[in-house]
Amino acid sequence: MVLRIRKASQHFLAVKISIETPLLPQMLDIIAGEGADAVCIGNTLRGLSINIETGLPHFKKIFAGYSGPAIKPLALRAVWEARKHAPHLPIIGCGGISDEKDVIEFLMAGANAVEIGTTHFINPMVIPRIQSQLMDYCLEKHIALSSLTNIAHKGGLCS
Ligand SMILES: Cc1cc2nc3c(=O)[nH]c(=O)nc-3n(C[C@H](O)[C@H](O)[C@H](O)COP(=O)(O)O)c2cc1C
Repeated sequence: MVLRIRKASQHFLAVKISIETPLLPQMLDIIAGEGADAVCIGNTLRGLSINIETGLPHFKKIFAGYSGPAIKPLALRAVWEARKHAPHLPIIGCGGISDEKDVIEFLMAGANAVEIGTTHFINPMVIPRIQSQLMDYCLEKHIALSSLTNIAHKGGLCS
């Protein structure tokens, strides 16, 4: 599938995968091997909610996508593992990001960029706020934003 899209388009091609993807390292190899420019990790996780008045699932399709702050450590772990496996593959980290601290964690775990979903529904103006707070953090630490990528794999800030 990735190869077919790659052949059909010269546009930037990022493939978005779930952190529930089985065999994540093998999947990354396929995505990179077929010519994607980047991988986005991850997406919503399958969840379930039951209405205790009816005794039935809330959603017609029974399972539904679960997102937001609770999934952040799971997504962060997947980004870390992906970075370990694929040191040079551009990674967009996604899952539970709500502020600049979360963005920094994803970068440090190995992401080159991040995607923000649920937090946007809560506050559509969150991006400018996060951008400004990221600048403050970088000024305070005397570090370029791009230098944060991967830092947790390389001995941390003090190395
Ligand atoms: C209401 C809703 C709609 C979404 N629609 C899409 C979509 O159309 N395509 C997609 O790739 N991801 C979609 N997502 C997933 C988000 O882009 C994101 O990957 C996921 O929610 C995890 O990040 P978050 O915790 O920041 O929301 C959707 C998520 C939500 C909550």
